[in-house]
Amino acid sequence: MIQQHISLKPYNTFGIDVSAESFVSVQTLEDLTSILKTKPSKLLVLGGGSNMLLTKDIQGLVLHIDLKGIEICEKRNETTTVKVAAGENWHNFVLWCLNQNLGGLENLSLIPGNVGTAPIQNIGAYGVELKDTFVCCEALNLETLELEIFSKADCNFGYRSSVFKSEMKGQYIITSVTFELSHSGHKLKTSYGAILSELEKMEIVQPTIQDVSKAVIAIRQSKLPDPKKLGNSGSFFKNPVVTKKYFQTLLSQFPNIPHYPVTENEIKIPAGWLIETAGFKGKTFGNYGVHKNQALVLVNYGGASGQEILDLSQLIQKTIQTIFGITLEAEVNVL
Ligand code: EPU
Repeated sequence: MIQQHISLKPYNTFGIDVSAESFVSVQTLEDLTSILKTKPSKLLVLGGGSNMLLTKDIQGLVLHIDLKGIEICEKRNETTTVKVAAGENWHNFVLWCLNQNLGGLENLSLIPGNVGTAPIQNIGAYGVELKDTFVCCEALNLETLELEIFSKADCNFGYRSSVFKSEMKGQYIITSVTFELSHSGHKLKTSYGAILSELEKMEIVQPTIQDVSKAVIAIRQSKLPDPKKLGNSGSFFKNPVVTKKYFQTLLSQFPNIPHYPVTENEIKIPAGWLIETAGFKGKTFGNYGVHKNQALVLVNYGGASGQEILDLSQLIQKTIQTIFGITLEAEVNVL
């Protein structure tokens, strides 16, 4: 049922109160295609609303993808393939996997958002990215209304990127994602510093996938605000990548700058460190600001407008450019 002029506040994790001219939530593929057959002139596709900043009322139709279902497709020697509908909540799906003793997604515990939007930016955390267990996804072509299958290669995944965020942006709606997960011989990824120390704190010597998930949840809860309690969209910016040569220049000025090699000639710098060093960490501006435990996260303390948060993000970008000569790129979609 199409509704008119409804508030999108419950549908975006920043908790921004803008309205949609029309809004519809679809639970079946048939409903989805029949809505699209009406060729809405302006369309905004919404999943979990966890990676967007809404700065104004939305004209046209907001289409909320609420397709549900988890299906075990195939069991092999050590792995099981699972097909998940786009509208399933990501963390609930991770918990379902852990309940079935399926491994591979435990490091991605507690990431907000839905399964269908996870491939768009190749979600990643604690040394694991979605692409590591991704097999394929089904996506509806908005032009032909045919379902197409995208293999891992078709998706062209990179750091926080895929074809759905670049050349195919706005052309497809992902309806399901298939993963290949381990049911035995789980390969734990605990080398990301904080995980090991968290497991130690928990006094766990031989961790299971469930333990790794618990450790990740504890780390996230200590650093990242829960969007149900405090409006936010996770990392607002991507971690910038600079050339080795430029990094050497920075290092002479900022000898403590944290950094990770990406390629032989490229170095990634945590945006959180740049923002903290620029003095923004924990700063509040009325009812919005920069989170006190993780400077990469901008927060809405309640009632802030999307424009105010956008202005703050631009002030941060300008300051980082001035101090470090680095361009910070937003990770969230600004609408
Ligand atoms: N740091 C600071 N100050 C801060 C935050 C970070 O100095 O306020 C420095 C520290 O040196 C720290 C380093 O940055 O050691 C890395 O911090 P952290 O491990 O928290 O990771 P991140 O690079 O800030 C990325 C992802 C997160 C993901 C974590 C863990 C991006 C843009 N963000 O953050 O993803 O959870 O790694 O793997 O890549 C998200 O995308 O919404 C998100 C939360």
